[in-house]
Amino acid sequence: MDVKTVLASDIDNTLTGDRKELKTLSRELGRMRESDELFLILSTGRRLEQVIDGFESEGIPQPDAIVSQVGTEIYLPPFHRDQDPLHVWRDMLMEDFSRSEALKLLEGLEGVRMQPDHFNTDLKVSCYLDEVQNPEAMVREIKRRAEYEGDGLCQVVWSSGRDLDIIPAAAGKGQAIRFILNLLKLDVEQIIVAGDSGNDRSMFEEFMRGIIVANAKPELQQFKKEHPLPDIYMASAPYAAGVREGLEYFELLGG
Ligand code: GLC
Ligand code: MG
Repeated sequence: MDVKTVLASDIDNTLTGDRKELKTLSRELGRMRESDELFLILSTGRRLEQVIDGFESEGIPQPDAIVSQVGTEIYLPPFHRDQDPLHVWRDMLMEDFSRSEALKLLEGLEGVRMQPDHFNTDLKVSCYLDEVQNPEAMVREIKRRAEYEGDGLCQVVWSSGRDLDIIPAAAGKGQAIRFILNLLKLDVEQIIVAGDSGNDRSMFEEFMRGIIVANAKPELQQFKKEHPLPDIYMASAPYAAGVREGLEYFELLGG
């Protein structure tokens, strides 16, 4: 296979947020995919159906692979609504994860609201902490429990000051993307990730080259502070315009 660039991008508030800019970016990405320069991975907290809805109604570009539900599910084309996630990834994660054990990490914590059932799966326990008095302190407590009581089998992902996910230690957007690259034996020249919030951190940690859009949440801005490297590009534009700006910075798009 030809050597390609891989772009692994989050969807919400990274691609979406400015409809007109997304249209321009989607056109560019489509052109790059057609000329075999680009392998596009959408890497999201959304469920598969919500990604497919997004192709139809939000102008989200067609990808070559989808990482969904915060890196607990992987889908390869052709995409359709009742598609099963990739079994090898799911089976591997299921080996070391127990939903009931993960739920125990939330026991007795006041103000935690579970997210709707369809965001809660065998591999992902998701809740909201927006009605908790001191959410940051609670996140620290849940992480502490995960480390000491959860035998290190799960990880806690905190995003946007609201969403908390407990997923297998081996899951997450970054590790799911790595799995796809290995599975498809992609000859990757470079991989660039793009994101705006806490559940994108694992992509930046895994690949250390990426675009943080200007509207990024403090937890991802913090990543740049911790890693003041030229390959972690802070865009000055928000949303899709920020992704475009980053692709220009990495010389994948003409300025
Ligand atoms: C998406 C998911 C939600 C998750 C959030 C942050 O919104 O639907 O379950 O908590 O991303 O990862
Ligand atoms: Mg996002």
